[in-house]
Amino acid sequence: MNYSVVILAAGIGARMRGTLPKVLYPIGGMSLLGRIVQTAMSLSPQKIVVVCGHQSQMVKEALKDWKQITWIHQEKQLGTGHAVQQTLSSLDTEKVLILNGDIPLISQSSLKKLLESAKENECALMTVKLQDPSGLGRIIRDHNGIFKGIVEEKDATLEQKQIKEICAGLYLFSKQHLSQWLPQLKTNNAQQELYITDTLKLAVNQGIKVKTVEPDHDYEVLGVNDKVQLAQIERIFQAKQAEHFMKQGLLLRDPSRFDLRGELSFGEDVEIDVNVILEGKVKLGNNVSIGPNVILKNTELHDGTKILANTMIEDAKIGPGCHIGPFARIRPGTSLGVNVRIGNFVEVKHSNIGSKTKVNHLSYIGDATIGQEVNIGAGTITCNYDGKEKHETIIGDHVFIGSDTQLIAPIKIGNGATIGAGTTVVRDVEPNELIHNRITHRSLIKTGTERLE
Ligand code: UD1
Ligand code: CA
Repeated sequence: MNYSVVILAAGIGARMRGTLPKVLYPIGGMSLLGRIVQTAMSLSPQKIVVVCGHQSQMVKEALKDWKQITWIHQEKQLGTGHAVQQTLSSLDTEKVLILNGDIPLISQSSLKKLLESAKENECALMTVKLQDPSGLGRIIRDHNGIFKGIVEEKDATLEQKQIKEICAGLYLFSKQHLSQWLPQLKTNNAQQELYITDTLKLAVNQGIKVKTVEPDHDYEVLGVNDKVQLAQIERIFQAKQAEHFMKQGLLLRDPSRFDLRGELSFGEDVEIDVNVILEGKVKLGNNVSIGPNVILKNTELHDGTKILANTMIEDAKIGPGCHIGPFARIRPGTSLGVNVRIGNFVEVKHSNIGSKTKVNHLSYIGDATIGQEVNIGAGTITCNYDGKEKHETIIGDHVFIGSDTQLIAPIKIGNGATIGAGTTVVRDVEPNELIHNRITHRSLIKTGTERLE
């Protein structure tokens, strides 16, 4: 079938009581609008038209990677019918699938049902019966159950408000019908808006058949109008996602305390404890285990790595067999080799750390390259910032750095060097050199770095 998708996203979203345009609020880390555009795209329609208006620049910027979108500006938000009217001149397909931009969980399969429901001279909409239909447009049927129209809650009589069947905000029209009916809409309603839903009354009056279709699952048509609904839909989304992963073998200690705001791939025997948040692209190898209260963002963890409680890792590659945490912070641009140990209260930024190296306690490693089998003692700091610029620290293999050492960058420490505890190292250290700044002889009362004779 030849059809376009029109997504309505111009509304101000006043009930959100925030400054962000409503359709940019996230569900599972992707905007409401992004989710519905993604689902629409999966249907491969001829065209995708998005109506924007309120803070349109911000909305367009947020979705700039979706090159397939044709943007239409609705200057004033005079209602859903008015929004669709703005798109007419850019539609050249026989049918038009109209989707409210605030229904993020609608599935491809339910939309397919809607697309297939209406024959040539018919229209269709999605409806569902809800326990609590408040705030939504109610479906009016005659005593034979034939569709007669939609009445908005604000225009409904007390009796009509008892109706549980609601309009989901998803419709299929022929372009020709829309061109005919949209100009006939009137604002004589409680909100003084042009309602898309009123076109269906015109259809009925004209004897055009209106089909109603139910989604695969009721939750799919829940809309986001306020932050309570946003949170409810987020939990539904997370529960479905968690269920899907558990069926693929992921061990989640408590799926209700697991949040993925992005994409996850994982190997065999992966275990995730409670209150873990994964953001962006996260890749977990085989036998990875993640302790409680861990946050991982755009991170790869290779086979057998263990992340202990309360650790945060962002934009990093962690090799196999590493142990990180508890209470560690790994910042962007970090890459760890095999069997690296990063312990509590250690911060690592933009650094490469070689295999079997240990940074076990209370250290800051920034802009550093550290070789293999290095021991970094407790409280070691790479002093990478001189107040203006950042400088590099390069540490070779098999280096031993005693506790409470400051390395004043730029600096190089040669392979096999030993630095005594409490040293402030201000110059490069040769391979196998031993330095410290303690008083080593009673006759020597000096401070600063010096060679141990
Ligand atoms: C709408 C339906 C209601 C249905 C509900 C389902 C109408 C009149 N009512 O109500 O029957 O039960 O959806 O969720 O359509 N928008 C524009 N331009 C505008 C106004 C709105 O683009 O001038 C967009 C909004 O950004 C939003 C969508 O249209 O994405 C729906 O608007 P909203 O105000 O949320 O409609 P509801 O009151 O939820
Ligand atoms: Ca809505």
